[in-house]
Amino acid sequence: MKQGDQSGRLYVYSGARRAAHWLTPVLLIALYALGWVLPDIKDPPSWRFAMTAHQSLGLLVAMIGAARLMTVLVRPAPAAPGVSRWADAAARTVHALLCLLTIALPVSGWAFSSVVGGSISFFWLIEVPPLAAENDALADRLLGVHVALGLALLGVATLHVAAALFHAAVLKDGVLARMLPRRARRL
Ligand code: HEM
Ligand code: HEM
Repeated sequence: MKQGDQSGRLYVYSGARRAAHWLTPVLLIALYALGWVLPDIKDPPSWRFAMTAHQSLGLLVAMIGAARLMTVLVRPAPAAPGVSRWADAAARTVHALLCLLTIALPVSGWAFSSVVGGSISFFWLIEVPPLAAENDALADRLLGVHVALGLALLGVATLHVAAALFHAAVLKDGVLARMLPRRARRL
């Protein structure tokens, strides 16, 4: 993957990295919304449709997360200008953690779907194999893990967004611009 163009002095993430970055919160909003409404859907065909959408979008997030984890580790972006060493290390740790959580959370959902014995489909095209055999005793625990990882991702993502907005609104140091399309790069 291309690292990103060095337009002037400002490093900018490549188009592919920016696309993967902004697609993730869009998919996550849909996933949290589906996750929370699923238990209230009483009509079986509607529930099945929403469940397949939740599973498919979740597995897609995991694939994007795995590709991004590799990129973050193998092709790290240069430190943003004027950012201290500890802030840079903190940002990199948070980025790696976000990628890890976007893998671990869907995998926990996959494991939960497996032990409850329901079918798992990727966009109605591929029947995804279960990760484990049916096991009622494990189901409650795995749903607990899925919910806990969901809350952990919300927490870390909130921290990350707050840091990005702090850079844009208070420090005004161009860190947000590294992740924006060309025409929006005044932030
Ligand atoms: C980043 C990806 C994902 C997010 C953010 C997410 C989020 C959520 C949330 C918020 C809930 C509601 C939990 C509750 O309070 O009861 C939920 C439930 C669930 N998730 Fe996920 N999930 C993701 C991926 C997956 C995947 C990949 C699968 C399966 C392959 C899956 C299977 C399930 C199942 C079976 C439930 C329980 C639904 C029900 O109670 O009827 N999730 N998820
Ligand atoms: C919607 C609000 C969000 C904003 C405003 C935002 C902003 C940013 C900014 C400005 C950067 C560049 C930081 C730098 O150059 O050092 C960045 C990088 C990054 N962000 Fe976000 N972000 C958001 C949501 C998310 C979410 C939901 C995730 C993952 C779950 C995420 C994961 C990452 C990762 C892994 C990086 C490292 C660069 C890369 O993608 O290769 N961000 N974000």
